[in-house]
Amino acid sequence: MAKILVIDDDIMNLTMVGHILERRGYEVVMAQGGREGIHILEHDEVDLLLLDVEMENMSGMETFTRIRKNPKTSDIRTLCMMTSAYQGYTVEALRLGALGFIKKPILPEQLFEQVEKVLQKTRKDILLAVDDEPINLLMAKRIFGIRYQVETESNGEAALAAIPRVKPDLILLDLHMPQMSGLEVFDRLHKMDGYEDIPVIFLTADEEKETEVKIFKAGASDYIKKPVVAEVAIQRINRILEMKHLQDSLQDEVDRKTKALQISNKKVKNLSKQIMYALSGAIDAKDAYTNGHSGRVAEYARMIAVRMGYTGTDVDDVYAAGLLHDVGKIGISDAIINKPGRLTEEEYRIIKGHTSTGARILEQISELPLLSVGAHWHHERYDGSGYPDGLVGKNIPEIARIVCVADCYDAMTSKRSYRDILPQVQVRREIEMGMGSQFDPEIASIMLQMIDEDINYSMREK
Ligand SMILES: [Fe+2]
Repeated sequence: MAKILVIDDDIMNLTMVGHILERRGYEVVMAQGGREGIHILEHDEVDLLLLDVEMENMSGMETFTRIRKNPKTSDIRTLCMMTSAYQGYTVEALRLGALGFIKKPILPEQLFEQVEKVLQKTRKDILLAVDDEPINLLMAKRIFGIRYQVETESNGEAALAAIPRVKPDLILLDLHMPQMSGLEVFDRLHKMDGYEDIPVIFLTADEEKETEVKIFKAGASDYIKKPVVAEVAIQRINRILEMKHLQDSLQDEVDRKTKALQISNKKVKNLSKQIMYALSGAIDAKDAYTNGHSGRVAEYARMIAVRMGYTGTDVDDVYAAGLLHDVGKIGISDAIINKPGRLTEEEYRIIKGHTSTGARILEQISELPLLSVGAHWHHERYDGSGYPDGLVGKNIPEIARIVCVADCYDAMTSKRSYRDILPQVQVRREIEMGMGSQFDPEIASIMLQMIDEDINYSMREK
């Protein structure tokens, strides 16, 4: 955890801030006054300084100035603490490289936010200053050097060439340069892949309104009038960099959340698939002669749906409806389901009940309402002689008409206790004969197509 030095001449305030930070897990060193603080900084490695600006004896600003002038301590990242009465010091503190301000009385959350923000930054922001006047570049280094890493170039061509190496966080661009104007540099920057979003602040001595308009129209982040007033420039640069960092971290957050969401979506999808497979396995396990029946019906139903023009999740719905169409059989005793001989009327009535029972069970899955529909009416017949409701023709929901064809096809193409798999010709003939009576003719004709294409008779129980 980071080590923080707190300098404050008010012992109450000092210990309070110290304890707040310690509770958060930071290592804290406390100094009651500037002299003691500077001594500690000279002899100890510290990650961050919290400096009270309002000290007596050696004033806060004097302490800050001495710290900056001392080569042993000049680099320390600093946050200033002050009451609103001392806001007049803001500009000077900024010039001395204060990275932020913490308002007194101190609120823990605000304190943490500022401290964490500063500590998270592992490097100084990089400014690229581009100007044909060497004196301006020297000035830029002097004014901004404390807070930022300042790189310089004396013309547009050199600046554009340096950008991939320097990777600036912000560019300070002189508007009037002899070989290539600032606007031209800006224009070329926009065409550089990966660097087009670097914020640019123009520097100009122009007084005309038109210049301002031209600069903003081009898409610049801001402009600063020459001669540069250090405090104004720092505040503007700071504001733009903060916005850029905020945007970057927002984008990172969005990317991270999207990825997490995709992963959890995939997990949920897999989970629901696995639950459906488990359930269909449970149905098939009840009947010694319907091993794999649900899976095959689902697959045939899916193939039919695709040929009917279904796409995407609609196909998945049909598949799932096929998988679970017989779920109502879970409630029927194994003795009836596996009875070798003829069923009594009462037993047949019970068997028929698997449609409504299945519908009731699947109604619970409100996210996939078609599951229940498939289970409910897959034994309806196109001519109205089916069960449980005797629905006719297109009144039978399409998904049930699809499952019905797939279900009957699989019944004929799998083994039974009393017979082997039927020959393909016979299966074809049965489907054809059922067109318009048992089956929706359109769906049945798709099934016939599939049979005709299945030269090796591979669509059957293996
Ligand atoms: Fe059934």
